[in-house]
Amino acid sequence: MTTHIPAAAKIVADLKARFFPTPTYRQLQLEFDLLLEQRRANLRQGRQQEVRGLLVVAPSGAGKTTLVARVLRQHPSGLRMLTEGEERADIVSMVVPSPATPKGVGLDMLEALGYPLRRDRSAHIIWQLVKTQFAQRQVLFLHLDEAQDFSRHNNHNDRHAVISTLKSLTQSPQWPVGLILSGTPELLDLVNMDAQLARRLKPVEHRPLKTSVDGGMITAALRQYAAAADITLDDALCKPRFVHRLVHAADYCFGILVEMICEAIGEVLLAGEDILSTKSFVTCFSRRSGCPEGLNPFVVEDFLALDVRRLLQPEPGPGNQGRPR
Ligand SMILES: Nc1ncnc2c1ncn2[C@@H]1O[C@H](COP(=O)(O)OP(=O)(O)OP(=O)(O)O)[C@@H](O)[C@H]1O
Ligand SMILES: [Mg+2]
Repeated sequence: MTTHIPAAAKIVADLKARFFPTPTYRQLQLEFDLLLEQRRANLRQGRQQEVRGLLVVAPSGAGKTTLVARVLRQHPSGLRMLTEGEERADIVSMVVPSPATPKGVGLDMLEALGYPLRRDRSAHIIWQLVKTQFAQRQVLFLHLDEAQDFSRHNNHNDRHAVISTLKSLTQSPQWPVGLILSGTPELLDLVNMDAQLARRLKPVEHRPLKTSVDGGMITAALRQYAAAADITLDDALCKPRFVHRLVHAADYCFGILVEMICEAIGEVLLAGEDILSTKSFVTCFSRRSGCPEGLNPFVVEDFLALDVRRLLQPEPGPGNQGRPR
């Protein structure tokens, strides 16, 4: 079996690099295009008007980072991402560094902008420089990923400082910058702390998967990924019962679901077979979670009672049933 490993691993890596467009992706694309075109229209008229932003909130594994990166990096108008050695940048996209203090984030941003500064400068000076850099480089949008870290690591005063800094970027009379914030649901606590910030951000709904609504998209994904790996799909995988199991196993998150499809295909290839079946998902789940069959949502009758996020759970026994949801 080991002789299959490099070939199977390459196919799985190639499958994982594919992008599957979802309705959320199309909505994000639309909302972003609207903001971009408004900003461009204002610029053509010489107006430096306040810019609205977008908020992408969903649990870990939903696909936030992937969606936003795809919208920004593969934009049809070829938006310029911040690149070392290049002056102009349409977009600055960064992961909020941890701990996400207002000063620390500002310093990291200046460094990314090629303008490193001594740490003893005040947060105010640092952010003034960030704004000057944004204006010089004509940055249209700032994307901050993992933005929940602003609320996780800061005390009340620092959270307010973060909020006013973010607002002031969008309202700068010299050069306003649009914000795109993505993160886990804790990010909502931060945004909802301030009605003015909340009003300036449009949420793009990244709702949990639902078998009845998303079943067609999920079976299309199963078919497309199996075809890309040149293997056959067992008909049972297109039945609602299996799709429901898969959706629950992925904790209702599209990104996790796609990862599972790719890894289950890897199991087929490792076994030297050519049919993607429930068996491949059973093995894939047990390899991902380290959980026994009694806690495997592709095996257990009452799979909805299982907590699929927990790793290495012991076999259920008296007093140790799967945690009800
Ligand atoms: N539309 C998609 N098509 C193909 N693969 C996807 C898609 N969306 C997400 N994925 C895959 O799902 C996985 C999780 O996605 P991603 O890292 O974007 O999630 P996230 O919501 O940012 O999670 P976290 O909050 O943990 O950072 C990645 O392996 C990614 O490649
Ligand atoms: Mg992410």
